[in-house]
Amino acid sequence: MKYLKLTLTLLNFIFPLMMVAQSSSDVAIGPYIQNVTDNSAVVCWATKSHQSFTIENTNQKRSLPQYENHEMILSNLKPNTQYTYHIGGHGLSEEMGQFTTFPDEIEPFQFAILGDTRSRHDVHSKHVDRIIQKNPLFVLNTGDMVGNGLNIHHWETFFDVTKNLMRSIPYFPALGNHEKDSKYYFDFFNLPGNERYYSFSVGDALFISLDLEGIEYQTPEYLKKENREFFWENHEIAYFKKQKEWLEHTLTLHDDAGFIFVYFHKPLISVKKSRVNGAKMRRKFWGNIFERHGVQVVFSGHDHHYHHAMSGGTHYITTAGGGAKLYDIDARQPETVKAIKTEHFIMADVRKKTTILNVIDINGNKIDTITIDKRK
Ligand SMILES: [Fe+2]
Repeated sequence: MKYLKLTLTLLNFIFPLMMVAQSSSDVAIGPYIQNVTDNSAVVCWATKSHQSFTIENTNQKRSLPQYENHEMILSNLKPNTQYTYHIGGHGLSEEMGQFTTFPDEIEPFQFAILGDTRSRHDVHSKHVDRIIQKNPLFVLNTGDMVGNGLNIHHWETFFDVTKNLMRSIPYFPALGNHEKDSKYYFDFFNLPGNERYYSFSVGDALFISLDLEGIEYQTPEYLKKENREFFWENHEIAYFKKQKEWLEHTLTLHDDAGFIFVYFHKPLISVKKSRVNGAKMRRKFWGNIFERHGVQVVFSGHDHHYHHAMSGGTHYITTAGGGAKLYDIDARQPETVKAIKTEHFIMADVRKKTTILNVIDINGNKIDTITIDKRK
């Protein structure tokens, strides 16, 4: 998000109503809530205009929507408090939202996680409705939110499907290959840190999102064709090495965390035959970093089904049943505990001494339950 950044300091009311903007009525996306902490939040929305252009040598005219992204940073909020905000000033319900700031001490909370919501929007919609009913504190997405991150129409659909959820529940995604490192991702989402890989805490639970896709650089003009592969390889290696160092540092810094959840797009253990070797290569790169630091759960997406594996005390869960066409499970691994080809999302119930993960299918049935003990 780069466009409009304003800070509003609030008085300490309980359940205050905040007028965050007086804008014209052309709010086209949102409002939605992002980057909530125990004392701040960001209200986002986008306004729309159209840019017409004519295709050369034809009489065709096209019109492409142009979005201007807006955000308002709300600071000095009270922890664990519900706030109502209102943009537009027309008193319309679609211009209003509510959110709850994170607790600043150890308290039970719930979060939802799903992935690969990029197609079959009816499936995605059903998950969204069910998640709204359960009212988690926030939602994680393991990536591939849209089919083509470079196509604005795909984001329009995504925000339309998630509209009633995102106006009240903050969304923390990981970058998938289908996001294509698009500027739209960075324009629409307001996330901690560099927005590619980041962490945040709720009570004594630590959440870490990683980017397993890497940056899509512009090819420098001076580069000869035969040197391109070598050039990209070096850039990618440097990027991932830096990210791994950041991860090591973040995990060391939070060694006293009660729960550590890591999430990213491509899994380190795959039960899809054609992807087993790719997963092994990724696992080789990250090594035993998760096990060594006592990470309890690593969530990923990309393989469109549910897969639960265990290795060295760490749960590896693939949750990619958000809408994309399902994949067969044709290569169970020695670490596999359970694998189900089904649409689903996961509700996590973080309590004082345990976290319960409930896997919910498209009909609302519980298809798996995992209990995770607190660290140490
Ligand atoms: Fe993917």
